[in-house]
Amino acid sequence: MCGIVAYTGKRNAAPILIDGLRALEYRGYDSAGIFLSGNLEAKLPSKLVKAVGPVNNLASKITDAYSGTAGISHTRWATHGVPSKANAHPHSDESGKVWIVHNGIIENYKELKQALQTKGYKFASETDSEVVAHLIVDKLKRLKIEQAINQTLKELRGTYGLAIMYDKEPEKIFAARMGSPLVIGLGDGENFIASDPTPILRHTKNVIYMNDGEMAIITPDSHTIFNLDNVQVNREPDQIEWSVEEVQKGGYDHFMMKEMMEAPEVVKNTLRGRLLVEDGMAKLGGLESVKDRLRQIKRIIIVGCGTAYYSGLVGEYMLEEYAGIPVEVEVGSEFRYRKPVIDEGTAILAISQSGETADTLEAIREGKRKGALTIGIVNTVGSTIARDTDAGVYNHAGPEIGVASTKAFISQLTALALFTLYMGRQRQMSLVTGKKIAEELLDLPEKIKKILDSGNLANIKKIAEKYNKFEDFLYLGRKYNYAIAFEGALKLKEISYVHAEGCGAGEMKHGPIAMIDENFPTVAVALRDSVYEKMISNIQEIKARRGPVLAIGTEGDEELAKLADDVFYVPKTLEMLSPILSVIPLQFFAYYFAVLRGLNVDKPRNLAKSVTVE
Ligand code: F6R
Repeated sequence: MCGIVAYTGKRNAAPILIDGLRALEYRGYDSAGIFLSGNLEAKLPSKLVKAVGPVNNLASKITDAYSGTAGISHTRWATHGVPSKANAHPHSDESGKVWIVHNGIIENYKELKQALQTKGYKFASETDSEVVAHLIVDKLKRLKIEQAINQTLKELRGTYGLAIMYDKEPEKIFAARMGSPLVIGLGDGENFIASDPTPILRHTKNVIYMNDGEMAIITPDSHTIFNLDNVQVNREPDQIEWSVEEVQKGGYDHFMMKEMMEAPEVVKNTLRGRLLVEDGMAKLGGLESVKDRLRQIKRIIIVGCGTAYYSGLVGEYMLEEYAGIPVEVEVGSEFRYRKPVIDEGTAILAISQSGETADTLEAIREGKRKGALTIGIVNTVGSTIARDTDAGVYNHAGPEIGVASTKAFISQLTALALFTLYMGRQRQMSLVTGKKIAEELLDLPEKIKKILDSGNLANIKKIAEKYNKFEDFLYLGRKYNYAIAFEGALKLKEISYVHAEGCGAGEMKHGPIAMIDENFPTVAVALRDSVYEKMISNIQEIKARRGPVLAIGTEGDEELAKLADDVFYVPKTLEMLSPILSVIPLQFFAYYFAVLRGLNVDKPRNLAKSVTVE
């Protein structure tokens, strides 16, 4: 969703904020804005600049004259009101006393706005956010700024990450969090507020993650955190592990390409120190505190959204086959609004790259309220889901900046395989099976490297060129690769904007086959596994209707090449691990397909990296 960066210190704030916004642009990129406070002594007026489109449009409007040393800034992903200058943040009231940037949704903004309008306040935007500025100004008639903000927060319903400036105290930045992440960066004679650590880590690695219901005040030399009852909260800073290089493109054209190329390292990092090969076991330190409870659980519900949900589907098959535990998988947005049957024998496993996805987070909270054990497979250390779950497994995949999730998916599948080993060996899995899975896991990085060989990538690119003329695609898979059909289709549609549908291959004849003709190609994952013959029959059914077929096959499968129009081969591995390999060519296919159409794969239209609103 939207990105917030705020700075107060001795340096020129504008370039720091603009750089910070660039680092956060993956959260939203339809418009951006910056407010720099003035300085009466230095006769420096305050400045407001906004621009529609990417941060570069804003940057081009900032001149050397913008030399304030404190400011707030925002990159927007529209929820209320079209992307426009008027709707871009920061927002103020007519007096310009208070400026705010907001991430989240104020659910009761309509009633608040009406009440304010009755009092004579004039609104300049269609946003829900603007009410916050007016409410604070209204309360400033009676209260000091801290209390005015505190009282305003108590009137808001919904979610917010807020950074606020007040003209009478130009060096201070106020921040507040409810449901939308915020982190405080602690520097030397300067401090920061941001939606996540990426824009901060080039300045400091000392951060404090704010919790829901907290308000903070930073000046160049101090930071104070309060809860909504005005009680001061003391918390030690955390150290960010990510390096600056990790959040840059490293010579690749796109973050997505860089992140796909990192796959072998990602698998190694997810596995590092966690495999006891001789015992056929996994050691997951993050689950140590709940290990007795995990032994007792009777059922697991996996929740996630989008790509994370599809990794959960693969996890379901792994856990049921090898650990013998009943598993259900559900998208967070459905789980939270129905009445799921949950008891103490249930564990809810949340999968999330960002650790901030609102629907997944609320599913966890709902599960907790009903007495379930909650665990997470989360990539972002210190994120809300990581902190709100009882225990968990970090992915250690490094920051994922490209909006389309690629390396995080590979890491999620790897972590799920580790979790299956961990749970399975406590239950029915034999030593021999455990060892086999552990050994195959260790072999994966080399197998992925083979797929990433430059000749292979050139081949996928050629295939993408051939299929670039088509506007509709059907993706098919079965069993472990059922979810890969959906994930492959999601990758293509989200960055290419062509119609791509995932389908369980067995379901095809119950409807989707009606679409097939020579202009409707199928991408079929047909590996040499337990459902190979069935997949071959499905491909034959498509060929009989003149549908072009691009197949993902197992190395050495000459038969498949005779049937499909194009084949991309991946090395053989255990069936349960095969999605980790089969998804890679589908990610690259989507990437090349979109690049060939001249699209910005890192920032697909209408999307944002971290979906912190419902
Ligand atoms: C697709 C994609 C999304 C995310 C989903 C969940 O490429 O990135 O579908 O997977 O929004 O995000 P996280 O994993 O951050 O909870």
